Amino acid sequence: MPTGASTSVYDCTILPLKKARNRAGNLTCVDGGRHLTYQVRRIYFLYDVPGGAVRGGHAHKTLHQFMVAAAGSFDIHLDDGLNRRVLTLNRPDTGLLIVPGIWRELVNFSSGSVCLVLASAEYNEADYIRSYAAFEEFKCRLQ
Ligand code: TYD
Repeated sequence: MPTGASTSVYDCTILPLKKARNRAGNLTCVDGGRHLTYQVRRIYFLYDVPGGAVRGGHAHKTLHQFMVAAAGSFDIHLDDGLNRRVLTLNRPDTGLLIVPGIWRELVNFSSGSVCLVLASAEYNEADYIRSYAAFEEFKCRLQ
């Protein structure tokens, strides 16, 4: 696994999750050992996001995250300082693995959407890069 400074948006992968269908409803499980390359140390979720809001707007130096649209949908803009990708999460049986060193913005949240995040470490503000200029410097792509 490349370090956060050398990762690319193409290291971020969409992973299908198993869905147990039932007439009484569906169930989807994230199997840590099979789906994730890290141990989950924190779970958080975004909800009640107003229309037009932008979440994220930062990168992480070392944190791995797995994001699932547990309800509704939203778009994720990924940026490694060189390449950009825009992905839509819109089903609870599919997630996105985001490696460290990726600038991300979450936009276009549908009403009632829930973004579930399984993270590799406890909350640590020192792991955030909150300015795009500092992110570019971190990625060593400044001229
Ligand atoms: P932030 O990660 O910037 O949110 P987003 O990327 O979704 O826009 O976090 C928003 C605020 O919540 C910030 O003040 C820190 C706090 N926070 C925690 O206390 N614990 C957490 O696990 C997270 C993710 C955020």
